[in-house]
Amino acid sequence: MREQHVLLLCLFVSYASITKSRYFDEGDECKLEHKGNYSKFPEDFSFGVSTAAYQVEGAWNEDGKGPSNWDTYTHLHPERIDDHSNGDEAAESYHRFDQDLVALKELKVNFYRFSISWPRVLPFADTRVQNQKAIDHYNMMIDKLLENNIEPMVTMFHHDMPEELTKFGGFTNDIVIKYFHYYADFLFKTFGDRVKKWITFNEPFVYCIPAYGNAVFPPMIHAPGVADYLCMDNTLKAHASAYRLYKAKYSNYQKGKVGMAISSRFYYTNTTDFGSEDIVDRAMQYSFGWFAHPIYGESGNYPFTVIEDITSNSMKEGLAWSRLRPLSLYWSKIVKGSGDFLGLNYYSSHFARMAEPPEGEIPSWEHDSRLKLLVDKTWKRAKSDWLYCVPQGLEDILKWIRDKYNNIEVYITENGWSDEGKLDDTDRIDYLKSHLQAVLNAINDGCKVTYYSYWSLIDNFEWNRGYTERFGLYYLNVTSENKERVAKNSASYYRSVIESRKLS
Ligand code: NOJ
Repeated sequence: MREQHVLLLCLFVSYASITKSRYFDEGDECKLEHKGNYSKFPEDFSFGVSTAAYQVEGAWNEDGKGPSNWDTYTHLHPERIDDHSNGDEAAESYHRFDQDLVALKELKVNFYRFSISWPRVLPFADTRVQNQKAIDHYNMMIDKLLENNIEPMVTMFHHDMPEELTKFGGFTNDIVIKYFHYYADFLFKTFGDRVKKWITFNEPFVYCIPAYGNAVFPPMIHAPGVADYLCMDNTLKAHASAYRLYKAKYSNYQKGKVGMAISSRFYYTNTTDFGSEDIVDRAMQYSFGWFAHPIYGESGNYPFTVIEDITSNSMKEGLAWSRLRPLSLYWSKIVKGSGDFLGLNYYSSHFARMAEPPEGEIPSWEHDSRLKLLVDKTWKRAKSDWLYCVPQGLEDILKWIRDKYNNIEVYITENGWSDEGKLDDTDRIDYLKSHLQAVLNAINDGCKVTYYSYWSLIDNFEWNRGYTERFGLYYLNVTSENKERVAKNSASYYRSVIESRKLS
């Protein structure tokens, strides 16, 4: 009898796993309950979508554009991209903005977040050569968006650095602060009469560690715990310097807002042991806090735990200095408060526990943080191996920001789901719905969230994954001559939310 039960159970489990998620046998829940008084998003809440220049523009060497680090990398190392593709053509948005605009209008979005390609406007990185054709292009985009009542939100740096700068160390050389300052000045002066929302840098943690730590993004430097930390330090200072420039020279009459887009998971721990709350806090400080704490925290510096650990590890390694120097008083004053809002890129969450003994190379972020990051097997996974549906994490990270950083205004600058590109994308609808529910719950709980941007408007070049992972509300046929954008079911779902300001 008992054997029969076990057999039936095994049959049921294997049947359930076949009918479950297409990618592998994990959870398939992607839901969140409504909490709070209001079932509608506030009238002034803005819905939008995001893209980034290298991922959609194409026209990599046209009209006077200079090469970027991603042009060089994908051309020299096609083998590093899963489908050996690159962004040479991508969605051809540089030539087909009208097609993007049709989609934006169809969605009825309130804003469009896109990035300006630094090497397209300043091919040599500095302001000696200003590419008029590129200026005309972005002027055309901004004007058309405004004519259609769509607010432009501009990212100034989204992974594509002028190759000129890469030649002398990229983000590891602090001269990047000066270059970015002049680039920012040029952008504010040229477009700031119409652009009122500026994102200086897009998720620095996510380019610094792969580019200068693990050597999986250009310029493929393997110097974990040193060069990646320098990249983060210089990015933070470049951001703050651009922010101060805007305040001193432009904000009086342009009246815009400047912030940074910081990416983070939320972290959970599956132990209730003494100290478990500290693990969550530690994981948050080692990721989100690395940038958020100096800008929005009280101390105007890196999180204390991070400074303390890295100083002590550096000494143990025999160095006479710390691999992460705390900000000087001079920089601390510039960095502290250098954000009118906090841009948040949220996709997924993690469980965290202390790794005993610490793992990872010595030195490295993994070793310094002593964190072991895990996922819950019941979470539903997307095509991307790092992306699990955890809407509760979005609600919780928003509350964490509210409590830790004095309820700073938050723009959700990215949130999205990947698959192989099908039009009947129920999983994306579930993800979108549950994450919008998380935002609404957080608003109902007093969090000041005012913008939400889905990543992405269209399928695009997903960095080392090429076109194998698709995040778009619109399908892109990469090989077709006209690069049609075809609405997926999620596009009409998102539009219905925007129209009704309610989740159905
Ligand atoms: C965040 C990045 O900003 C964007 O470039 C990328 O495509 C999405 N995440 C999805 O991985």
